Amino acid sequence: MTKDFLSLSDWSLADLEAIFDLTRELKAKQKEGTPHRLLEGQTLGMLFEKSSTRTRVSFEVGMFQLGGHALFLHSGTTQLGRGEPIKDTARVMARYCDGIMIRTYSQAAVEELAEHAYIPVINGLTDMYHPCQIMADLFTVSEHKEDYRNLKYCWIGDGNNMANSRINAAAVFGFELRVATPKGYEPDAEVVARAEQAGAKLLLTEDPKEAAADADVLNTDVWASMGQEEEQAEREKAFKTFQVNSELLKLADPQAVVMHCLPAHRDEEITDEVIEGPQSIIFDEAENRLHVQKAIMATLMAR
Ligand code: CP
Ligand code: NVA
Repeated sequence: MTKDFLSLSDWSLADLEAIFDLTRELKAKQKEGTPHRLLEGQTLGMLFEKSSTRTRVSFEVGMFQLGGHALFLHSGTTQLGRGEPIKDTARVMARYCDGIMIRTYSQAAVEELAEHAYIPVINGLTDMYHPCQIMADLFTVSEHKEDYRNLKYCWIGDGNNMANSRINAAAVFGFELRVATPKGYEPDAEVVARAEQAGAKLLLTEDPKEAAADADVLNTDVWASMGQEEEQAEREKAFKTFQVNSELLKLADPQAVVMHCLPAHRDEEITDEVIEGPQSIIFDEAENRLHVQKAIMATLMAR
């Protein structure tokens, strides 16, 4: 059976930490200019049904640095976009490529793709999860803080794909996680129940101040995710008091760091001042998508 990277909850702590070890090694090699062509001659097919800057660029550049090649395929220009079944796309791509990265709406579609492709499949974001981003986030925290698992993390804003992935991560990595969302915008109930069953230390609240109090890591994301653009105005009202700003940051630990997966709507979910401020590690977080994903691809695809 091929190994896929669809959700953090499919992976053990030891295997995820091994990915971080490889990330550290590959990042150092890339910075020194030492070749690390672990995927020489291999091809990653990248299927996008949603927009992207970071995910597309980091996977494509990452494959190049690993000695391979990445194909950018947008649904608007593929037969998938015209209704070809995902299981047929999976079987055909598996005969040309060595791995597939997919960004789409439904997690079930990614699972179906993985079931029918006999090559590794990587989830590049669904409405439910964004596992590559959470790996980059945690790796970034590990570079800035002594013991990244023994910290208080907080999530302020929408109970979206990033919140769900963070909850999965809390179960696997064991850190404390407070999630503050407005009523009606809570994270996925099944994800929460599974994480709690697995022993995750979770606090769900409607009060951003309660979540931020003494926190070591503050994290937020847009109020309306891709596919929710029509709800923007309604969401702006619901999330008005869920902004990461200097006032909220004052409640956190003085050494706290601030993260955002980007793209950000400055002065909506996070102020321009905080993004540009000394506690922001947002651009290190964006850079680490490249290094972490190279380690994920090498782990799944190296022969
Ligand atoms: N954070 C992230 O996945 O960014 P993109 O949507 O630009 O890929
Ligand atoms: N929650 C956001 C993340 C973008 C990287 C979205 O799904 O649009």
